[in-house]
Amino acid sequence: MRQQVGILGATGMVGQRFIQLLEHHPWFEVAWLAASDRSSGKKYGDAVKWKLDTALPERIARMPISPAAPENAPKVIFAALDADIARELEPAFAAAGCAVISNSSAFRMHEDVPLVIPEVNADHLPILENQIWRKKSGGYIVTNPNCSAIGLVLALKPLVERFGVESIFVSTMQAISGAGHPGVASMDILGNVVPYIKNEEEKMEAETLRLLGARDGKIVRPLAAKMTAHCNRVAVEDGHTESVSVKLTRPAAHEAILKAWREFTPLAGRDLPTAPAQPVEFTAVEDRPQPRLDKWRGSGMTVTVGRLRPCGLLDWKFTLLSHNTIRGAAGAALLNSELLVSLGKLEARKFDPVAASA
Ligand SMILES: NC(=O)c1ccc[n+]([C@@H]2O[C@H](COP(=O)([O-])OP(=O)(O)OC[C@H]3O[C@@H](n4cnc5c(N)ncnc54)[C@H](OP(=O)(O)O)[C@@H]3O)[C@@H](O)[C@H]2O)c1
Repeated sequence: MRQQVGILGATGMVGQRFIQLLEHHPWFEVAWLAASDRSSGKKYGDAVKWKLDTALPERIARMPISPAAPENAPKVIFAALDADIARELEPAFAAAGCAVISNSSAFRMHEDVPLVIPEVNADHLPILENQIWRKKSGGYIVTNPNCSAIGLVLALKPLVERFGVESIFVSTMQAISGAGHPGVASMDILGNVVPYIKNEEEKMEAETLRLLGARDGKIVRPLAAKMTAHCNRVAVEDGHTESVSVKLTRPAAHEAILKAWREFTPLAGRDLPTAPAQPVEFTAVEDRPQPRLDKWRGSGMTVTVGRLRPCGLLDWKFTLLSHNTIRGAAGAALLNSELLVSLGKLEARKFDPVAASA
């Protein structure tokens, strides 16, 4: 029997991706959906503006949307809420004993809350044992990073491990789906580039260094590197592209960097259903990666890197691409939950669907 899970913020862009990715998941089954008061009480199919290119599953379309409260919710909650709402609701679910697998930025930098990419820093997970909710009810919050930090960190991790990284310069070209729906007005983005995404540069800088940092007992010490990020919104539907320059601690040849990316398979043999065989894949084609052509590598979970060449300012520069609502959001959370199951930190609980829909 598959473990029953709930989705908080089920009608949004990331919530829809959760439904799509969970539809055929071997371990989990969607048993509970919640969104705002605007949607609560409606059938999911009537409340959602379904924006994905696969059909809305009929079983899900018929499901009722519950109030966003932990009573009658399953023990495992995938949360896709705006940060302000998450700040209020996620602790309520954790206090009620739920494992909250969160996409929002609300608790990512909280000292006791793991910010995790399974291939990068699974060893940060034990800090969740310090959470007050964990101690009182068994519940907790685990987060995945900002959608632009995740691609960058996956590409940097093998370089940090083999050569050390001292300075990071990144400039992003971020898809409009990253702003949710309806997101940026078409009049603002068509034929245009918007060189500002509120709080994005700060999040990207802080999260990147925390993810690449080391756990020291109960806390995480960020990587001691210099970093600057420029974040831009561009008229692309899905897929964040990033131009990156890095200064390494120890010299590295072109082939050694390609080898580091090629051999970066830290989850090999763990049998996590959402883990891609190759988390970072290099393309030698001179004008790739491109969002339209490369975002679906590894079913949207692989980061594509290309154009590795010497940098006149730092040591090396390259381009990367990752799917922002898969690897950057719902797929990232799902992989976190699979890691938690494999570590024995997600327990199944009997769920009563009659009580939930009453
Ligand atoms: N889009 C991305 O690429 C991406 C990537 C990484 C992380 N994230 C993060 O993931 C979160 C969700 O993003 P999104 O793009 O899916 O946003 P979105 O499309 O705006 O969806 C927001 C969801 O939250 C629900 N909601 C709003 N107010 C609520 C309330 N008071 N109580 C309960 N539910 C409420 C909405 O329900 P209604 O439909 O009823 O209003 C909807 O289901 C954000 O924190 C975002 O920063 C997004």
